[in-house]
Amino acid sequence: MPRDPAPATGPNTGAATQALSRGPRHVAIIMDGNGRWAQARGRPRLFGHHAGAKRVREIVEACPALGIKYLTIFAFSTENWKRTQTEVAGLMSLFRRYIAKEMQALAAKNVRVRFIGDRVRLDTKLIALMDQLELETEGNDGTHLTIALNYGGRDEVARATKRLAQDVADGKLKPEDVDEETLPKYLDTCVLPDPDLVIRTSGEARISNFLLWQSAYAEYEFIDTLWPDFTGEELDRLCRSYGRRDRRFGAVKT
Ligand code: FPP
Repeated sequence: MPRDPAPATGPNTGAATQALSRGPRHVAIIMDGNGRWAQARGRPRLFGHHAGAKRVREIVEACPALGIKYLTIFAFSTENWKRTQTEVAGLMSLFRRYIAKEMQALAAKNVRVRFIGDRVRLDTKLIALMDQLELETEGNDGTHLTIALNYGGRDEVARATKRLAQDVADGKLKPEDVDEETLPKYLDTCVLPDPDLVIRTSGEARISNFLLWQSAYAEYEFIDTLWPDFTGEELDRLCRSYGRRDRRFGAVKT
């Protein structure tokens, strides 16, 4: 069954008429460049991931002042399993430690945390910590932090389609009722609005399977800064630049 419907956003909802001066409500970030940051210092890649994890806190804390209500960050993709066993194990251990260490601070700062992605390949200890963090923060109504972990946009659409097909097979949904409003209700992000601004650090200009459906009308920023060097000031600059963009959602200005 689909979960709660997402708040309305997108081309048909009046978001197209938002004032130019408004900053993004939902920012999604591809946190890239940890490996190069570490390499430049002659250190192992995991050193860069640890520095990247520290950066997450500063960015989450910067959100309220910038009017960012939703922050979604890409922590581990369905393709990242192709990295060396040492790096994958190190990242998994970092995620466990990060959740355990940050749990209290996130809860105290009124951050609501959710995870998106497929949990099947994750170890049980990590899953338990993810569940605990979601539960611990579910009453919070400040920044909505979504962490994409073992996430891939195509994988998400495939999993959603499987559930949708099951509902059709069970007679809960008619094929003729399936439209653009139906599928997103089956996505991992079903309770989130679409991202307004997607940022990728480290100079690469690609989206790497991140929020494929949801970013259809997002604005993009590809910046050279490596993730461990990304600051709240830079996020502020990108939000201001977003506010000057003319989002038309396929329509023309009248
Ligand atoms: C990409 O940089 C980064 C990742 C695959 C991992 C992202 C993880 C973090 C920022 C740290 C932990 C996050 C949380 C939420 C605790 P890369 O390794 O591809 O860098 P490179 O392109 O320079 O090699």
